[in-house]
Amino acid sequence: MKADLIVGIQWGDEGKGKIVDLLAKKYEVVCRYQGGHNAGHTIVVEGKKIALHLIPSGVLYDDVINIIGNGVVVSPKKLLEEMIPFENLEGRLFVSDKAHIILSFHEELDRAKEKAKGKKAIGTTGKGIGPAYGLKIERSGHRLGELKDVEKLTNDLMNYFKNNETLFTAMEVKVPSPLELKAELTTYADKLLPFITDTTMMVWDLMDEDKKILLEGAQGTLLDIDHGTYPYVTSSNTIAAGACNGLGLNPKDIGIVTGIVKAYCTRVGNGPFPSEDFGDGGERLRVAGNEFGTTTGRPRRCGWFDAVATRYACRINGCDQLSLMKLDVLDGFEKIKICTSYEIDGKKVTNFTGDIENAVPVYEEMTGWDSVVGARDYDSLPLTAKKFIQRLEELVGVKVGIISTSPDRADTIIL
Ligand code: GDP
Ligand code: IMO
Ligand code: MG
Repeated sequence: MKADLIVGIQWGDEGKGKIVDLLAKKYEVVCRYQGGHNAGHTIVVEGKKIALHLIPSGVLYDDVINIIGNGVVVSPKKLLEEMIPFENLEGRLFVSDKAHIILSFHEELDRAKEKAKGKKAIGTTGKGIGPAYGLKIERSGHRLGELKDVEKLTNDLMNYFKNNETLFTAMEVKVPSPLELKAELTTYADKLLPFITDTTMMVWDLMDEDKKILLEGAQGTLLDIDHGTYPYVTSSNTIAAGACNGLGLNPKDIGIVTGIVKAYCTRVGNGPFPSEDFGDGGERLRVAGNEFGTTTGRPRRCGWFDAVATRYACRINGCDQLSLMKLDVLDGFEKIKICTSYEIDGKKVTNFTGDIENAVPVYEEMTGWDSVVGARDYDSLPLTAKKFIQRLEELVGVKVGIISTSPDRADTIIL
């Protein structure tokens, strides 16, 4: 059976965690395919908030199998910390032996490189994502499967540190002693080896057994290393195609693609954001939407729904439907803006190109509504909210199949 997929449409934090958790009750397997603990996926069930960074968002259901694919970069330290609150993960959490390892030196390198960039910093999460993927592409990285031989992995890493001593000294990055490193890796091997396996074969077997599989993307389309706002992006392929690389699937294995999109737009970190609102509107969205990072606590930059970028993202992911999130955050706004085109160097632009540094947003304004918070059926929505949704569908060319009206799992309209 084909695997369905959830993908972020904007610059991340669209509400992927909520939707994966909600849909997971209908699936038997949930797989993460890229990113690392830069991701922060929040789930709220009956008022209780859970933030996940590496473990797939199917974990709240005891009978769902959770897989971390080869395309993910895994900090064993972070993964072990995240596993603590969950019982009986053995047999329902699996991690690819081909996933690359993040250690503290990757994180330190990430932060040191950002500092060195000064004003040109990307605004990374500082979790070592860039250095880990960088070493993978350079063919100098190490994979979780190597924890099977801690002695060899320690020696290989110590050699790597020695060969790159100049870099580490210049960047003031501390490297561990052989004894420290061996002890650290031994702990990871003891605790994680029962979860490490060839997840590619595993996913193929599960597909052959007709299991229902949901693929969970991290970050968002506009942060994709190839198709996002480079260089202000993350270091992996966040788009739907990333699931093929990140799990060992072929394109024909992918079923329904659901794009997760907020009714407005946010971004954390630096880089272009044409529909950013620097005034009262942006501040109001930040407060109403509680737009502060799940991973770093940073205030998110806020602005309006960008139909140009969304249309592009839907095309690149092959979205079958959209899940429109945080509609309630627009409650009480008299007028709601939608960016329908850009003006670049005096010309009207309706296609999203990577070159949006100087894009000036052109807005259409729609009438707002009083309240949709907590709504669970479409008919109860005010007419102006329905009109807003219909206009987004028209501009983007993809139907809205899910509407979310609060952080809680239950406050969702499935059309
Ligand atoms: P993700 O990274 O895409 O999983 O999204 P995050 O969890 O980082 O950020 C989304 C935030 O919005 C979380 O705090 C969610 O609890 C919250 N959220 C999700 N859906 C809704 C919604 O419909 N309304 C409101 N008000 N909050 C929501
Ligand atoms: P989820 O999965 C929002 C951003 C960072 C920075 C850029 C590069 O919760 O949507 P990195 O640490 O990846 O090298 O940083 O990407 N970023 C995210 N922004 N949500 C995320 O994940 C993000 N993961 C990375 O802020 O701009
Ligand atoms: Mg997030």
